[in-house]
Amino acid sequence: MTTLLRSNLAKSLISSTAKPSKVASVAVRCLATSSSTPSSSSLPPVALAHLRPVQGFVGAIGNTPLIRLNKLSQETGCDILGKAEFMQPGGSVKDRAALFVVKDAEEKGLIKPGGTVVEGTAGNTGIGLAHVCRSRGYKCVIYMPNTQSQEKIDLLRMLGAEVHPVPAVAFDNPENYNHQARRHAERLENAVWTNQFDNTANRRAHIETTGPEIWDQTDGGKLDGFICATGTGGTLAGITRYLKDRSEGRIQCWLADPPGSVLHSYIQSGGKLMEREGGSITEGIGQGRVTDNLAQEVSLLDSSLSIRDEDSIEMVYRLLDEEGIYVGASSALNVVAAREMAKKMGKGKTIVTILCDGAYRYQARLFSRKWLESKGLVGAIPDHLKKYIVLE
Ligand SMILES: Cc1ncc(COP(=O)(O)O)c(C=O)c1O
Repeated sequence: MTTLLRSNLAKSLISSTAKPSKVASVAVRCLATSSSTPSSSSLPPVALAHLRPVQGFVGAIGNTPLIRLNKLSQETGCDILGKAEFMQPGGSVKDRAALFVVKDAEEKGLIKPGGTVVEGTAGNTGIGLAHVCRSRGYKCVIYMPNTQSQEKIDLLRMLGAEVHPVPAVAFDNPENYNHQARRHAERLENAVWTNQFDNTANRRAHIETTGPEIWDQTDGGKLDGFICATGTGGTLAGITRYLKDRSEGRIQCWLADPPGSVLHSYIQSGGKLMEREGGSITEGIGQGRVTDNLAQEVSLLDSSLSIRDEDSIEMVYRLLDEEGIYVGASSALNVVAAREMAKKMGKGKTIVTILCDGAYRYQARLFSRKWLESKGLVGAIPDHLKKYIVLE
């Protein structure tokens, strides 16, 4: 690991703790000197980052492994690598954004000890925020569309959040859950609306942590392509910015889109925004607009792919069967997209994508015969994988 990257890791560890304690300082010193320690010299960066205790929940965010997907790599003649964000302490890639939007509010003096964080979110960001808020002593209030599953609402409440399910209406309606979240924060003293879609501290999380980790884990940027889907756009935009800057534009960065999202056509048409049409089984991804997080980097993107739900659901089952990796449909979509990117770029390339979260949050649907039938997706699962449809 280069000195610069080691010091970046050390910095992100320091900045991810409210007050660096002795434990954190020891861990940072360890990062800074680890290459000279005989027992640690051969360890990969992720292991180096965890040689010593980290400071609380937020200290455990980041530094996830980059997993080579062996079967798909063999099939494409490329290295297909998935960043294992399902191993984050709160279970998803959104832990990074949650930490950064809260830190940003603290740094700008928008929230003081004992304050309240308010967000509009249907899923993982709320879970990440609820964890970060508990660990930092804030209250957490979540607005979400009332179409979301009871499990999600229950989980957020178990994590101590106050949850407001509200009617699911379009973004331009003032009663949309995001606007309700903003107004809730405005009504309270010492409260902040973290605004994950347009608050670019979200994108910064990936410029400062995920991007450098990917660079480091590919032996100093030995990758040819990066591709992932977007919800807020923070992950794609932040990683794209970092990889483009570090590689002086060499690394191809593409967007992957589910059905019902407008960004693939936006990129392919050179910037025409269509009306949203249709939908997808994937959750947490798909957009009807260019968010502020994406807007600053959208011109850096080289291309985009649209991925069918049939291919995403098949990949959920293939990853489980072939790799023993249990991830949700957005991760599966990303892996399909990485495979397609590999095919288009040709043999011998290294392609990186994001494994956003585990399948646990969606298993009642993804592995239910009834649900798959209701979506017309049973036929998309190859016969030899149908044994995994274990729920009625
Ligand atoms: C499961 C899942 N995948 C992917 C994403 C997309 O991440 P981003 O918001 O950084 O675009 C999200 C965002 O909430 C998500 O929940």
